[in-house]
Amino acid sequence: MLPVISIGTLKTSGTTTLALTIAGVAAAADIPVVLIDAARDHDLLDWSRKGACPSKITVETAEDEATMERLVRAARRRGDLAIIDAGTSVEAIRSAAKLSDRTLIPVRFSPLSAYAAIETDRILTADAGKGRRGRDWAFAASAVTTIPSRIARVVESVIQQSQTPRLEIGLVLRAAYEAPFLHGGTIFNLTDEIAPGLDRARAEAATLAYEIGILGRGMTENQAQPMQIAA
Ligand SMILES: Nc1ncnc2c1ncn2[C@@H]1O[C@H](COP(=O)(O)OP(=O)(O)OP(=O)(O)O)[C@@H](O)[C@H]1O
Ligand SMILES: [Mg+2]
Repeated sequence: MLPVISIGTLKTSGTTTLALTIAGVAAAADIPVVLIDAARDHDLLDWSRKGACPSKITVETAEDEATMERLVRAARRRGDLAIIDAGTSVEAIRSAAKLSDRTLIPVRFSPLSAYAAIETDRILTADAGKGRRGRDWAFAASAVTTIPSRIARVVESVIQQSQTPRLEIGLVLRAAYEAPFLHGGTIFNLTDEIAPGLDRARAEAATLAYEIGILGRGMTENQAQPMQIAA
């Protein structure tokens, strides 16, 4: 069973980039994906209108929990992967988390992003008994710089004080991840002339997809949870 994944945090930290990157991996692996755009700016909807959207990806918008729920149910029925971009609104983050199996809280290693991630984690913890049974959540490092600043290291230790786990792999700061928003398409169907460094971005994205149970073992019924990321 493919999990329903929701992504969100209270402050802009790379939610949409993470959602689109995961969707791109799945589509490249021939997995049908419903990208549910529940974020304020509808960046995913705008992205889909640029063209070059893989045929495996459908983008839908959801302004409220009822719409989100209808889309998630339909995706589960079809056996599609559903990814909800819940954006930064607390209502959307809570609704999306309740409907999903796994929530990712993107966090940049900057103080304001980390405080927002910790607050998001607190909200999800308060809601832990609600929604799908056994749902879990994790922090996902986003736009990581390869040489971390002293500040970033301190901020990272703040995140590690939470009981909530952090994915081992995050997304490094790469121009390749921005290219789909300029040209349409995903890192898997763009070319290196347009977006340098695609190979590394693809490898990183695929590793992340394995870790959250979308590729590999996560795709078989009896091993639906390849990695227990819950606290
Ligand atoms: N891993 C990354 N590498 C390079 N650029 C990134 C990465 N992650 C995010 N960005 C850039 O940072 C900016 C914000 O990212 P994104 O739009 O994904 O965040 P968001 O949390 O969805 O923001 P919003 O609150 O506007 O919805 C964008 O310009 C995006 O291209
Ligand atoms: Mg966004």
